[in-house]
Amino acid sequence: MIPLIDLKAQHRTIADEVEAAIKNVCENTAFILSDEMKAFESEFAQYCGAKHGIGVANGTEALFLALKALDIGPGDEVIVPANTFIATAAAVSHTGATPVFVDCDPETYCIDTSKISAAITSRTKAIMPVHLYGHAADMSSILSLARANGLKVIEDCAQAHGTHYKGKQVGVFGDAAGFSFYPSKTLGAYGDAGMVLTNSDEIAEKLRLLRDNGRTTWYEHAIIGYNSRLDGIQAAVLRIKLRRLNEWVEARRRHAKRYGELLSDVENIVLPKEKPDVRHSYYVYVVRVKDRDTFMARLKEKGIGCGVHYPVPLHLQPAYAFLGGKEGDHPVSERYAKEIVSIPMYPELTDDQVADVAAAIREAVAA
Ligand SMILES: Cc1ncc(COP(=O)(O)O)c(C=O)c1O
Repeated sequence: MIPLIDLKAQHRTIADEVEAAIKNVCENTAFILSDEMKAFESEFAQYCGAKHGIGVANGTEALFLALKALDIGPGDEVIVPANTFIATAAAVSHTGATPVFVDCDPETYCIDTSKISAAITSRTKAIMPVHLYGHAADMSSILSLARANGLKVIEDCAQAHGTHYKGKQVGVFGDAAGFSFYPSKTLGAYGDAGMVLTNSDEIAEKLRLLRDNGRTTWYEHAIIGYNSRLDGIQAAVLRIKLRRLNEWVEARRRHAKRYGELLSDVENIVLPKEKPDVRHSYYVYVVRVKDRDTFMARLKEKGIGCGVHYPVPLHLQPAYAFLGGKEGDHPVSERYAKEIVSIPMYPELTDDQVADVAAAIREAVAA
């Protein structure tokens, strides 16, 4: 069996350190807005090259609070990709604003920047690109569209720890960026966790209030905020894992390169592409095949884990039926939603396992 992802394999490599760190937090009862949280905020912000990191409860709330800090709310529209996890759009909806879906780029799977202009209206306030699967969105085009139309940019970096765009870590290009540390992410906590990055002192200040019930002093609350704090145990674990992030991303990239070499001559399968100005972090390794059901069934028969990120584009999700999206609105996302398959990708994969997966894929496509 080679699973799609193996969190236990990763835990085994750091178990002693993690257990000691958790014990330390428990002994200090430093659970909320703790030193561990503050240390992780500054270490992660520094890793990404951002001025501020604001630890929050999860990635959905990182995006939601970033939008709130930018004063986005009812009556506003925010442009998001149709091909992403629903939390991208849900974060917009929770502010009272409306997500406006845009199709995906046929090569990178990220938002198709050539289709953004047509989606801009007088109500549009922001663009929220997603660095999907670990590949950076085309930030240069997004930033120039935003500048030309007076829009904010919030990067959804939930799948992009360790992703570079034009030599810089993603998360520093827009007004703010939201990260998720959901356990399966490239940098994953041992529960839910998230962070907002920003270079703006003002936005950072607002976010610190928003995540902690608007609290300025123990009994004083400047605004009506939320309870969305990154807890101390998660921060302690994330600090340990952050030290290995580069090494883990390099391992993912090595596996991706090997998949590419082993599968380059296989017909009827499309492998992921990496644009020249991007360093893909391969949060997931997504291929495309025509007969996905048969392909996945054959992989499973051979003991190879696989998954789909994501089978239903957001404009066709029941949750967004009220917006009136229909089949044909975003044809690339719709077609790809039927063809995409994620295959095993995690740093601890061995070279032999990568070769076994590639051999199984070769047979599953050909058979
Ligand atoms: C693209 C994207 N955005 C947002 C989220 C939300 O993150 P979380 O699950 O931490 O709320 C996720 C992950 O789950 C995601 O993949």
